[in-house]
Amino acid sequence: VEAPLQDRFGRGVNYLRLSVTDRCDFRCVYCMSEDMTFLPRAQILTLEQLYDIASSFVQLGVKKIRLTGGEPLVRNNVMSLIERLGQLENLEQLHLTTNGAQLDKFAKPLKAAGLTGINISLDSLQAGRFKELTRFGELQKVLNGVDAARDAGFNRIKLNAVILKGRNDDEILGLVDYARDKHIDISFIEEMPLGNISEHDRALSFISSEQIRTQIQERYALTPTTENTGGPSRYYRMADSQSRIGFISPHSHNFCHLCNRVRLTVEGRLLLCLGNEHSVSLKEIVDRYPGDHDRLRDAIIKAMDLKPERHHFSLDDEPQIVRFMNTTGG
Ligand code: GTP
Ligand code: 5AD
Ligand code: SF4
Repeated sequence: VEAPLQDRFGRGVNYLRLSVTDRCDFRCVYCMSEDMTFLPRAQILTLEQLYDIASSFVQLGVKKIRLTGGEPLVRNNVMSLIERLGQLENLEQLHLTTNGAQLDKFAKPLKAAGLTGINISLDSLQAGRFKELTRFGELQKVLNGVDAARDAGFNRIKLNAVILKGRNDDEILGLVDYARDKHIDISFIEEMPLGNISEHDRALSFISSEQIRTQIQERYALTPTTENTGGPSRYYRMADSQSRIGFISPHSHNFCHLCNRVRLTVEGRLLLCLGNEHSVSLKEIVDRYPGDHDRLRDAIIKAMDLKPERHHFSLDDEPQIVRFMNTTGG
């Protein structure tokens, strides 16, 4: 293993978020527009290329890979990639972020492949509303997926809830109780302005982590922790519960100084920051020079110099970032 990756601000990069598809069987209102179109096959990395890039990162000291999308489990043959990544010796954590709809089928094979953690999006516990928020999702399938992940023996399961004012902000306590009951963690996320979604007004639906925490504290005392999972969540604990409550606050609490991650889009674009366009095309390299791992590693090391200091999100005008979340990899 070579020296760890570092950016110009002295931040070490040891976490890669790998988007394996921009497609999804849901169309969550804050993530996609109604008439979303997806990338043609020729524009996306093959599973072989995804593996080559991911393993180069591991050789450069990356310890944690999170598979994202879109919905990772809709990619054909994704299990073959996960099985190979699961065998990389120096990789300590291999996690997946999923909408959960197919976990009843995938949880066991994922565990067997060496996956070490699963984050599942869950924004509502009411079937009708769940369908409105995801446009296509079926709540019961996702709830079955959560249970399947627990039954498969995953001990790192986290729920993600994006809270939108007037749409699901009356479910905060219900979601906390569900997580408590299942002994799993939950993060509440402030919506980020990625992609222009005309059907949905982000300024109107904004609700801060502070407001969410205040609601939870009406029922449960929350004690802040210094625990860090290597992501942007700030965690709190409740008395008499194993569940942690996390807050991801891209607007109200900037966490960029602790940033340890970069993302690879399925187009092979290495994005140095979620909220900026600084990027390098690794696809050009793996297309033109297949098998040239030295060249690939050099490009990755050089790319770190482009990592910007922080994101600046604003809800005031049109989104500055036109790229949608599903092509970004969360
Ligand atoms: P861990 O890595 O295990 O801590 O999980 P995570 O919560 O970071 O990952 P997950 O895929 O569950 O994403 C939850 C939310 O965090 C999503 O809305 C992501 O877009 C957001 N997120 C993750 N990393 C960053 C980041 O570097 N910047 C910003 N602004 N948001 C991020
Ligand atoms: N802002 C914040 N979170 C988002 N997600 C998708 N789109 C957005 C957005 N615009 C969340 C999903 C999923 C995670 C990967 O990202 O709910 O849990
Ligand atoms: Fe699919 Fe996740 Fe986007 Fe929802 S947030 S549409 S589940 S990629």
